[in-house]
Amino acid sequence: MAYDVVGLGCACLDFLGIVPHLPDQDEQVWMSDSTQQGGGMVSTALVTLSRLGASTAFVGKIGDDMAGRVVKEEFNLYEVDSEHLVMELGASTSVSMILVDESTGQRTIMAGGSAVELLPSEVPAEMVASAKYLHLDNTNRQASLAAARLARDSGVPVVLDADTMSPPGDLEDLLRLTDYLIASKVFAKELTGLADPSAAAKALSCYGSTVTVVTLGEEGSYTLAGGRSFHTPAYSVDVVDTTGAGDVYHGAFIFGLLRGWKLEKTANFASAVAAVSCTRLGGRAGIPTLDEAVSFLRARDVEHFDFEDGAQDRNG
Ligand SMILES: Nc1ncnc2c1ncn2[C@@H]1O[C@H](COP(=O)(O)OP(=O)(O)OP(=O)(O)O)[C@@H](O)[C@H]1O
Ligand SMILES: [Mg+2]
Repeated sequence: MAYDVVGLGCACLDFLGIVPHLPDQDEQVWMSDSTQQGGGMVSTALVTLSRLGASTAFVGKIGDDMAGRVVKEEFNLYEVDSEHLVMELGASTSVSMILVDESTGQRTIMAGGSAVELLPSEVPAEMVASAKYLHLDNTNRQASLAAARLARDSGVPVVLDADTMSPPGDLEDLLRLTDYLIASKVFAKELTGLADPSAAAKALSCYGSTVTVVTLGEEGSYTLAGGRSFHTPAYSVDVVDTTGAGDVYHGAFIFGLLRGWKLEKTANFASAVAAVSCTRLGGRAGIPTLDEAVSFLRARDVEHFDFEDGAQDRNG
């Protein structure tokens, strides 16, 4: 079967809790809410796409442990194909412990697990070549490069979530194979040395992406395409937890690309879907369905959001 979006990247398990304040050593605090949810940049973007109604498949490697089984179960729950999710014997799945400070909304994150990378030979070539989009993140570099080359040879556009903690080796090769580069402001600044998002996007676009986006948290996002640029504000919502907002933004952005929407509308939609996801604890619990996203937009932006205008309004 040909999928709308094939994603290759990391999958992990997040444990999240809301605490009145960060505990001191030997102190115990009571969590007012807690949850466990799958996470990871590409994984959560695929869950977003699936919630919105696109067909998706995840490719990656995790451990054959309890966390790995939960990750797999969640892909099934959200109807993300996980036939090419490799569960490696003896490896441990990446796990994050995330404490959300109730008074400030700030997050403290502890992450661990053994880095099990997918091998280039484990990339399902046919699945990648037949997808409408390939979505990648900073992980599994060699397999990502192999998949990106396959995609380029087959005319499949590559979307990259360029976030922090990227291993520098081969990074430029991956950027050169990227068509839609959506970077966090931290990554953009780290790589280009430029704090100004418009200058950073311009520098990033030199690697050859046709569309370059820098996301700016609650300050929205900045898009550059073919010499044209614009800012998209973030939507103001009652934020509970911003975990996964960037991942969700990527998924919703790709949904707009699949629909052939103009870039302004695509970025606006991504901003709305990401904002809604911030209203619940965890990276996935708050991801809206398409109907919920459209209701949110119509309630706030009814003049500008015409959901029905579809494939005819191509990017540009
Ligand atoms: N507090 C917020 N309120 C509303 N929207 C937000 C908020 N934080 C993020 N967003 C939306 O999500 C998008 C992506 O967020 P951000 O730039 O923080 O991603 P990131 O740096 O990749 O972080 P992460 O991957 O950890 O979520 C923003 O461009 C914005 O549209
Ligand atoms: Mg991110």
